[in-house]
Amino acid sequence: RGGIYMQFQLTDEQEMIRKMVRDFATNEVAPTAEERDEEERFDRNIFDQMAALGLTGIPWPEEYGGIGADYLSYVIAVEELSRVCASTGVTLSAHISLAGWPIYTFGNEDQKQKYLRGLSEGTMMGAYGLTEPGAGSDAAGMKTTAKRDGDDYILDGSKIYITNGGEADIYVVFAVTDPEKKHKGMTAFIVEKEMDGFTMGKKERKMGIRSSPTLEIIFDGVRVPKENRLGEEGEGFKIAMQTLDGGRNGIAAQAVGIAQGALDEAVAYAKERKQFGKPIAQQQGIGFKLADMATKVEASRLLTYQAAWLESEGKPYGKASAMSKLFAGDSAMEVTTEAVQVFGGYGYTKDYPVERFMRDAKITQIYEGTNEIQRLVISKMLMNE
Ligand code: CAA
Repeated sequence: RGGIYMQFQLTDEQEMIRKMVRDFATNEVAPTAEERDEEERFDRNIFDQMAALGLTGIPWPEEYGGIGADYLSYVIAVEELSRVCASTGVTLSAHISLAGWPIYTFGNEDQKQKYLRGLSEGTMMGAYGLTEPGAGSDAAGMKTTAKRDGDDYILDGSKIYITNGGEADIYVVFAVTDPEKKHKGMTAFIVEKEMDGFTMGKKERKMGIRSSPTLEIIFDGVRVPKENRLGEEGEGFKIAMQTLDGGRNGIAAQAVGIAQGALDEAVAYAKERKQFGKPIAQQQGIGFKLADMATKVEASRLLTYQAAWLESEGKPYGKASAMSKLFAGDSAMEVTTEAVQVFGGYGYTKDYPVERFMRDAKITQIYEGTNEIQRLVISKMLMNE
C-alpha cells in the first residue's frame, strides 16, 4: 500500500537534540539510575534540569513556552533518556504525550496559556488519568463521575496506575458525565493537584521503572470549574483514545532506548569476557544472539521514527504508533532478556544494569494499552481499510 514515505536523514536540529539529551542522560541521569531504582526514589531535580534544557516543551510552539521542535525530536529525547534510565524516559513521555498533547490539541487559548505554557516551561508537571480498578483495557467501562453543578462539575471516583502521580501539578482526567450515552457520555477535565477533595492514594511498588512514581488518585467531591473542561461534554473518550495514539509511540521510544541500552552493555561485555580461550562475542552462539538483538533494535527504531514523522507531517499515525509500541515493546523484552543471558550469572545480579533493563522493559508491553490491545487496534484498522 502506498502513502507512507519517510525521510531517513535526521535534520541538524534533530541531531543536535539527540546529542544534547545523550550528554545530559550520560552525565546527569545515568549516575543515579541504579540508586533511584533501588530506593524507588523520584528526583524532581532531574525534571527541573530537563525543563532548563527545553525538553519539557520539545514539540510545543514557542508561543506556549515550548521549543517548537517536532515529534521525531521528542521520541529521540525519550529514547536517549531511556537508554540509561527508563523511569526518566516515561516521566517525560507521560508529561508531553499524555498531559501536554490533549491540552495542545483540544484546549482553548486560555487553557493553553495557563497550563500548556506551565507544562512546556516545566513549572508544572503533567499526568493523565484514565484507568480505574475495574476499567483497564476496557477504558469505556470507567465509573468516575462528573456531575454538573452550576458553573462547576463535581468529580467523584478514583483512578489507578497514574504515572507522575503525586509529583504532577495537573492531571488530564476522564469522567462520566452522562452514563446513558456510554462512551459518548465521557468528558475530559484538567484537574489541579491543589483542588479541594483531590488526594493521592496508594503508591505502587513495582517490578520496574521504580523511580517513576505510580499512584492512585482519588476524587471526593472535587469541584472543577467548567473552564477546566477539556473539549466538549461527550468528547472525553475520543480525546482519551487520540491522546493514546501518540502516547503509544512515546512508549515505543522508551522501549527502543531500553533495548539499545541493554544491547550496548551486552556487546561491550561480550567483547571483554573470555571463555574457552577467546571473547564470547567470537563464539557464534553469542555473536548470533547479538546480531538478532541489534536487528530488533533497528527495526523498532525505524517503526518508531516513522510513526513520529507521520505525526509531524500531519498524516494519520494511529496504526503506525500501535505497531511501533507492539513491536518495540515485545522486542525490548526479548533483547533485554537476551542481554541478561549474554552476561550469564553476572547478568542476574545488580552489579550490572541489564537486570534493571529487563525489569523496565516489561512495562512497555503493558501500559498505554497492552500489546494485546495494540493487536486489536491494528487488526480493527486493517479491517476498516
Ligand atoms: N481515535 C479516535 N477515535 C477512536 C479511537 C482513536 N484512536 N479509537 C476508538 N475511537 C472511537 C471509535 O471511532 C468509536 O467512535 P463512534 O462510537 O463514534 O463510532 C468509539 O471510540 C468507540 O470505539 P470502540 O468501539 O473501538 O471502543 P471500545 O470500547 O471497543 O475500545 C479499545 C477500544 C481500543 C479497546 C480501547 O478501549 C483501548 O484503547 N483500550 C486500552 C486502554 C489503554 O490504552 N489504557 C492505557 C491507560 S494510560 C496509561 O497506561 C498511562 C500511563 O500512565 C503510562
